[in-house]
Amino acid sequence: MSNMYRGVRALGLIAIAGLLSTPAFAQDAQEISPEDAKKLFAASCSWCHGSFGMKAGKGGPKLAGTTKDEDGIYNTIVKGQGAMPSFKNTLTEVQVRALAKYIKSLPSE
Ligand code: HEC
Repeated sequence: MSNMYRGVRALGLIAIAGLLSTPAFAQDAQEISPEDAKKLFAASCSWCHGSFGMKAGKGGPKLAGTTKDEDGIYNTIVKGQGAMPSFKNTLTEVQVRALAKYIKSLPSE
């Protein structure tokens, strides 16, 4: 009886592990090209950060040459910063990661 219970519990854990890992796989498979990251930036960020991040815009600073590293940028987009809203509910992790890479790819001068 107790062995059978353990077996059922193990099956339950495997099922949960499967549920948790499926979205991660789906996101790894999903690639956002640099061009698409730029389009995403234009749609979500350009109204505050000018010229695709190359200049200060209405309310937001120039992003090219930021001292933040990719993870710092990632956190800023997810959590927001000062007058900048959080994009936690509007962008996926993959999109935020692509935007962080895009900003780090901007020439600093
Ligand atoms: C409503 C205007 C607004 C929008 C929209 C906006 N930002 Fe910002 N952003 C700001 C402001 C203002 C700051 C400066 C915040 C502060 O430090 O007080 C900022 C700061 C940042 C920083 C930190 C720069 C640094 O060096 O500290 C990053 C990175 C950034 N924004 C990226 C983005 C991205 C990517 C998007 C689009 C997903 C975006 N922002 C959308 C207003 C905005």
